[in-house]
Amino acid sequence: MAPARPGAFHPLRVAEVTRLTDDSVAITLIVPPELRAAYRYSPGQHLTVRHAMDGTEIRRTYSICAPVTEPGSPRNLRVGVRLVAGGVFSTYAFKELRPGDVLEVAPPIGRFVLDPAPGHYAAVVGGSGITPVLSIVSTLLAEEPTARFCLVRSDRTTASTMFLEEVADLKDRWPDRFQLVSVLSREEQQAGLASGRLDEERLTALLPALLPVEEIDRWFLCGPYGLVRSAGRALRGLGVGRRRVHQEIFHVDEGTDAVPTTPVPSGSAGPARSSLTATLDGRSGSWPVGEGETLLDAVLRNRPDAPYACKGGVCGTCRARLVSGEVRMDRNFALEPEELASGHVLACQSRPLTERVELDFDR
Ligand code: FES
Repeated sequence: MAPARPGAFHPLRVAEVTRLTDDSVAITLIVPPELRAAYRYSPGQHLTVRHAMDGTEIRRTYSICAPVTEPGSPRNLRVGVRLVAGGVFSTYAFKELRPGDVLEVAPPIGRFVLDPAPGHYAAVVGGSGITPVLSIVSTLLAEEPTARFCLVRSDRTTASTMFLEEVADLKDRWPDRFQLVSVLSREEQQAGLASGRLDEERLTALLPALLPVEEIDRWFLCGPYGLVRSAGRALRGLGVGRRRVHQEIFHVDEGTDAVPTTPVPSGSAGPARSSLTATLDGRSGSWPVGEGETLLDAVLRNRPDAPYACKGGVCGTCRARLVSGEVRMDRNFALEPEELASGHVLACQSRPLTERVELDFDR
């Protein structure tokens, strides 16, 4: 079976909802045999859940936490969900979701991945940012007998630490190849590191004391925007090249400045009228872009199957290649500089600057 498109949703039954902490759960979904090829995943990927609440459709992306044990044919998908204050889906998942319920789920996507290979790897994660990294590190250590991994994790308190036991198991199982450093921001620690936030200055001092920074093959940074940016800056200051650093942002505080996306000033006005040609799943169409609309809005009016989740420039689900024309992106927390350089944009944040714009969601 050909891989399903990123936007294609299928109903998957919930096998288990496991309480991880006072404010997080892991949801295990059953993948029926006919969908297993379409739902295969690489460690580090996430999936989009679609759910109707009070007549409104909501979408959320959640990272897969389980290792890849059946690469071509997963029977289950397990994701971590943290309760967000006022979060519609996370509150539902936390309080109401039960085994036997059905969720609409799109196949796993994402480029925050590691294909297991020999080497020395490291991650800096905050809070629920452990979720994809747990899949990455547990797959790597099981698959590659010589690979090593250093995990630096930051959490508020022990009680709020997701996957505490799973990470402790990794340490028990591979004590020589797995190094764990845990920092609590709001709790005194008995031994080891002092508590407090991990900021750029602290990481700049900590990382070289822990491991040979220049010899690390790849770095994985995941969690809230502030931590990921601090860790990225610290690594750059320590001489780590951008190509060795992968990052995924889970949460952006309101008012945070986005990563610069384009030299076009954000106030630049586009043409009075413009039209968009978009290719999605091999089929193309051309439609006008309404005033004030994003390119994603224009596509969705005509192709409701277009991929998206957050509509906030964070998850990267709406990534598409700009084939022709020019756009301005309002904000970007998802695309790496290399992706921008290769012409990729976030459709949910893009507005036309030329009369004709062409997007390809398949590339
Ligand atoms: S839908 Fe999440 S970045 Fe566009």
